[in-house]
Amino acid sequence: MSLWKQPSKLAMVVVLLLLLCHAVDKVHCSTHHNNSQDFHSLLEFKKGITSDPHGALSNWNPSIHFCHWHGVNCSSTRPYRVTELNLTGQNLAGQISSSVGNLTFLHTLDLSNNSFIGPLPLLNKLRNLDLLFLGSNHLEDVILDWLTNCSNLVYLDLSKNHLTGHIPPNIAFLKKLEGINLYGNYLSGVIPPTLRNLSTLLLVDLSNNQLNGSIPNEVWQIPNIQMVNLAINNLSGGIPDTFTNLSSLMILGLDHNMLGGTLPSNIGDVLPHLQGLYLGSNLFFGTIPTSLGNASNLEVVDLPNNLFSGTIPSSFGNLSKLQILNLEV
Ligand SMILES: *[C@@H]1O[C@H](CO)[C@@H](O)[C@H](O)[C@H]1NC(C)=O
Ligand SMILES: *[C@@H]1O[C@H](CO)[C@@H](O)[C@H](O)[C@H]1NC(C)=O
Ligand SMILES: *[C@@H]1O[C@H](CO)[C@@H](O)[C@H](O)[C@H]1NC(C)=O
Ligand SMILES: *[C@@H]1O[C@H](CO)[C@@H](O)[C@H](O)[C@H]1NC(C)=O
Ligand SMILES: *[C@@H]1O[C@H](CO)[C@@H](O)[C@H](O)[C@H]1NC(C)=O
Ligand SMILES: *[C@@H]1O[C@H](CO)[C@@H](O)[C@H](O)[C@H]1NC(C)=O
Ligand SMILES: *[C@@H]1O[C@H](CO)[C@@H](O)[C@H](O)[C@H]1NC(C)=O
Ligand SMILES: *[C@@H]1O[C@H](CO)[C@@H](O)[C@H](O)[C@H]1NC(C)=O
Ligand SMILES: *[C@@H]1O[C@H](CO)[C@@H](O)[C@H](O)[C@H]1NC(C)=O
Ligand SMILES: *[C@@H]1O[C@H](CO)[C@@H](O)[C@H](O)[C@H]1NC(C)=O
Ligand SMILES: *[C@@H]1O[C@H](CO)[C@@H](O)[C@H](O)[C@H]1NC(C)=O
Ligand SMILES: *[C@@H]1O[C@H](CO)[C@@H](O)[C@H](O)[C@H]1NC(C)=O
Repeated sequence: MSLWKQPSKLAMVVVLLLLLCHAVDKVHCSTHHNNSQDFHSLLEFKKGITSDPHGALSNWNPSIHFCHWHGVNCSSTRPYRVTELNLTGQNLAGQISSSVGNLTFLHTLDLSNNSFIGPLPLLNKLRNLDLLFLGSNHLEDVILDWLTNCSNLVYLDLSKNHLTGHIPPNIAFLKKLEGINLYGNYLSGVIPPTLRNLSTLLLVDLSNNQLNGSIPNEVWQIPNIQMVNLAINNLSGGIPDTFTNLSSLMILGLDHNMLGGTLPSNIGDVLPHLQGLYLGSNLFFGTIPTSLGNASNLEVVDLPNNLFSGTIPSSFGNLSKLQILNLEV
């Protein structure tokens, strides 16, 4: 091998790399990680934080690559992009900067259980986001339609905040949603019937809000739903007696509303996997359906403060897993 060939090969590789860098994204190929957009987005996020009592962000400085900052995780290939930002339970206070909306490779954003105030950050560019956990903060204002751009979202948790306004019907564009957790806010208006379109939905918890109107029939048609919690709202109307197959439903919580009417006589047959039935503090009347004795997984039947009459069906004797039967008035 001649001596001159090797340096020229090396030069060739360098030239190629530089060209490649230029073509891909000159910013990310920079030798200084601190030039990248994700670096600046994270620093911008840090600026929004007014209190960090546990020093959660103490290693967030330019001498350390941002992929090693506490709570940050990156893709394993260059250019390194932030895929996870998880600062749950750090007592952080301040506002969530909309710069997190520029972390376009983000899959997981978990800022739950802190003391963030202000509106939800604008995250409409986060098409890869699958887990969004912002629960247990002091976030306020409304849930806007930008959410529908996070089309890969699997789990949405905005529970225990101060959110107001309606649940956007467009939530049904989030075709991969498996869990919606909005409990403990000040949401008003009706439950969007479009929830019916979410065929992957397993859990929906809208309890402890100010929702009113009747429960749309579509809610009883979400194909694979396992848990529905609508307790502690101002819902009226009843449960339709043309109740069909909801064979995956395990937990049904409707307590503390203004629901009335009789229970569907086939309720135990169409909810064969029911484990917990919570209907307390409503205006239900009539007899307790015998068919409930057919829902052999029932552990809790909690029906206090209603207007039921008659006797406890003898079929309840077949409920071998039953632990709580509450019929207090
Ligand atoms: C980025 O890092 C380089 C070298 O570590 C340093 O000279 C430069 O000031 C840094 N820039 C910023 C914006 O932190
Ligand atoms: C960071 O992400 C990689 C995959 O990209 C994963 O294997 C690793 O467990 C993650 N680390 C943390 C702390 O989440
Ligand atoms: C965030 O990190 C905590 C541990 O610090 C973990 O328990 C939690 O599951 C993580 N959140 C997500 C969405 O992965
Ligand atoms: C919230 O975070 C605190 C620490 O800041 C922790 O003690 C508590 O268990 C967390 N709560 C939940 C529900 O994760
Ligand atoms: C997001 O990035 C764009 C450029 O890509 C920038 O103009 C904008 O200011 C950034 N937004 C925030 C909130 O940092
Ligand atoms: C969703 O993304 C598209 C394309 O990037 C954009 O035009 C549209 O304004 C976004 N919608 C919302 C509600 O942000
Ligand atoms: C929901 O499904 C209905 C009928 O299947 C369809 O007409 C409607 O456009 C869908 N809506 C959304 C938001 O996906
Ligand atoms: C729901 O509450 C709003 C006010 O918050 C009221 O205008 C509306 O009539 C109520 N709807 C029903 C069906 O009770
Ligand atoms: C619930 O709705 C009724 C009327 O349907 C209304 O009188 C009452 O104020 C509402 N309660 C709350 C807490 O919104
Ligand atoms: C109810 O749905 C399940 C699964 O979707 C199915 O296996 C079962 O046959 C259905 N039962 C009735 C009575 O339609
Ligand atoms: C209980 O289930 C059996 C078998 O599926 C059925 O024949 C019976 O009618 C059901 N009982 C009631 C009260 O629905
Ligand atoms: C209890 O279950 C058995 C077997 O499924 C059935 O034959 C019987 O009628 C049930 N008893 C009552 C009181 O429903």
